[in-house]
Amino acid sequence: MPPQLVYLDYAASAPLDPEVLEVMRPYLEAAGNPSSTHAAGRFLRSAVEEARQTIADLIGAAPGEIIFTSGGTEADNHALRSAVETFSLSTILYNPTEHHAVLHTIEDLAQQGKVYAIPITIDKYGQIDLNHLEELLKAYPHSLVSVMYANNEIGTLQPVKEIAELCQRYGALYHCDTVQVMGLGWVRVDAWPVDFLAASAHKFYGPKGVGFLYRRRPIRSFITGGAQERGQRAGTENVASIVGMAFALKKAYQQKDIYLKHLSTLKAHALNLLETLLPEARINGDPTLERSHPGILNFYLPPKKADDLLLIHLDLAGVCASGTSACSSGSGHPSHVLRAIGLSPEEAVRAVRLSWGWGSEKAHLELAIQTLRQGLLSPTT
Ligand SMILES: Cc1ncc(COP(=O)(O)O)c(C=O)c1O
Repeated sequence: MPPQLVYLDYAASAPLDPEVLEVMRPYLEAAGNPSSTHAAGRFLRSAVEEARQTIADLIGAAPGEIIFTSGGTEADNHALRSAVETFSLSTILYNPTEHHAVLHTIEDLAQQGKVYAIPITIDKYGQIDLNHLEELLKAYPHSLVSVMYANNEIGTLQPVKEIAELCQRYGALYHCDTVQVMGLGWVRVDAWPVDFLAASAHKFYGPKGVGFLYRRRPIRSFITGGAQERGQRAGTENVASIVGMAFALKKAYQQKDIYLKHLSTLKAHALNLLETLLPEARINGDPTLERSHPGILNFYLPPKKADDLLLIHLDLAGVCASGTSACSSGSGHPSHVLRAIGLSPEEAVRAVRLSWGWGSEKAHLELAIQTLRQGLLSPTT
């Protein structure tokens, strides 16, 4: 990243930690295939298995319950598609503000006639209605439930413990996309009866293009080929990235308290700045620190005060931020998340998401919010 840029898009992707790169280097350079039985292969195999053990220990799982994937999207696809097939599930109860990796997969399964997909009611912050979920579970007990931990656009946290307990009570299976919270050190599957969870390394300072799926029970592979990952995900393992991901996650769990404090301090500052400099801004998602991701803030400015150039103002000032999730930006479509919590299409395209991490400072937030304020005051806009 050019040094003069202010990066406020950690929810899209965090920079690679230089220490992670160093740990990965010998495996990037190594010859061999982890499935080969000779010494070069065994060297890589033991690195993959050590990484699996590290991740399993951190999240309270058994190593055999971790399947390495090419990222969060594949982990979500794998969980949903394979769970439906393996357990002959015919109903999916889902949160309508899920990432497209989940939503488009569910839509695809429904279009193919494999499942009946029912959205769970959400409130104005995007939090699901537990009473509605329970009603649905009474009617469709043998379901797959998909509700993420933290929303990637608006940061709203879901009551994931209660959801898992409800699923357990009614015999449903629970898939949770934990991509945005894995780096916060909150996930422990021994204290949380979740059945599947998806994670992605580039959200916690690991490399892009690698992630993992936790599954409590064996599921079918949805990629056919070799017998890697105990027959549950064919394809030669991305060894260097897997090693880097495990190291990055270990660091995240070791530093979780200080990281949480850093993120929360910045969030409190961002909220103060908004109140003082942009009082007309309305926060999208849960505004409280207790029920939202500490590193994500999404807001929009009322139409008569705002224009469509907010992100361009930020970009020209050297501030990298998003209006929606990175996967959807540029599509020209208003965010499905913002639409689901009640924003009109015109409001939804005027939203700004700021998200921060280790490299962020209060001054970065000040620059972003001052820039937005100047953009709004400018006579040309
Ligand atoms: C909540 C959530 N799920 C899934 C994904 C997809 O992860 P990946 O980029 O590793 O495919 C993302 C990425 O932004 C995300 O935020």
